[in-house]
Amino acid sequence: MVDGRAASGPDLSVTHFSGLKLPNPFVIGSGPPGTNYTVMKKAFDEGWGAVIAKTVSLDSSKVVNVTPRYARLKAADDREVIGWENIELISDRPLEVMLEDMARLKQEYPDRVLIASIMEEYERAAWEQLIERCEATGVDAFEINFSCPHGMPERRMGMAMGQDCELLAEVCGWIRAKATIPVWAKMTPNITDIAVPAATSLAAGCEGVSAINTITSVMGVNLDTLRPEPCVEGYSTPGGYSCKAVRPIALAKVMAIAQVIQRDYGGRRDLSGLGGVETGRDAAEFLLLGANSVQVCTGVMLHGYPLVKSLCGELQAFMEQHGFTSVEDFRGASLPYFTTHHELVRMQREAVAAKKRARTGLAGDADWSGDGFVREAESMVAN
Ligand SMILES: Cc1cc2nc3c(=O)[nH]c(=O)nc-3n(C[C@H](O)[C@H](O)[C@H](O)COP(=O)(O)O)c2cc1C
Repeated sequence: MVDGRAASGPDLSVTHFSGLKLPNPFVIGSGPPGTNYTVMKKAFDEGWGAVIAKTVSLDSSKVVNVTPRYARLKAADDREVIGWENIELISDRPLEVMLEDMARLKQEYPDRVLIASIMEEYERAAWEQLIERCEATGVDAFEINFSCPHGMPERRMGMAMGQDCELLAEVCGWIRAKATIPVWAKMTPNITDIAVPAATSLAAGCEGVSAINTITSVMGVNLDTLRPEPCVEGYSTPGGYSCKAVRPIALAKVMAIAQVIQRDYGGRRDLSGLGGVETGRDAAEFLLLGANSVQVCTGVMLHGYPLVKSLCGELQAFMEQHGFTSVEDFRGASLPYFTTHHELVRMQREAVAAKKRARTGLAGDADWSGDGFVREAESMVAN
């Protein structure tokens, strides 16, 4: 792989409708894998298609993390990690330092895509200042964190903003009026119908949507101490769930958003899917439902940055199996095969009736034909 481009095999490059062009569809999702210069550089060197930095806000002194802040759910073999809870907040590094890191990366990797993830309070001037300072680093796009599930709901940040469509529409409007680069709104799955805030953000002018952020969770209760996990000074707080276990939920949410993009924009908006991706075949499922790119966060924490090589190889193997030469050849191909339950019942009833008709032969003597005469007689024989 050279600069994220596959050296041989099917073409993995993707172009979003906003114009963001990636050498492969694999993007570092906002979180620990995008916390500083060293790790983001590692991501580019290993070949990731793009990097989304850890979420920043204007005043990092308000961000105070605790430890432990992660808890795992393991499979029956007690080895494989299938679920991951975190109570981590956004970046606790000073904004100036994160901006320096982003500027340095853009200088050293001008052709690679670096996306700033931002979050602020319900205050227009704060968003405008944050956007201006991030854009000055040369980043290629914004992902707006409307979805952090823990911390600062009292300041109406993150998920609290993403769950309130009136607030969301207004803030997306401020952001879109100020930003000169593409904007993706990152959605929370902790809402009745994710299609509603997704449609709201797009209607307010955002070029795209990312989904999903983590799912509200309580990892468990320690049956010796009777205290909830992860336990900090004897207490806990609900966190965000990620990793393999969330993938089916993420796929359903991405599918719902893809339908909105198809219905309202003829498919012409960006969709970046994530949640539990660890293999190229996992990623293929998101692409088949209409995603343009696929992000990975927890998977990188479990397997490291070289994971991108197996992701690319496995996706290419899937493409070769079907004779696809580019991602556009199959992107969204499975989306038309969703319908309502009501419709499934109708189709099944019709199929059963057709089978019965074929088995029970002719409805009346007028239906006998010359060519099918023997088969028609056979169809009405009992033994
Ligand atoms: C430890 C941890 C920290 C995260 N921090 C952020 C963050 O700062 N901003 C953000 O938008 N998402 C954050 N996320 C959410 C991920 O970007 C992603 O939406 C979610 O974990 C689902 O994808 P995954 O299963 O690939 O991790 C974080 C996730 C984890 C596990």
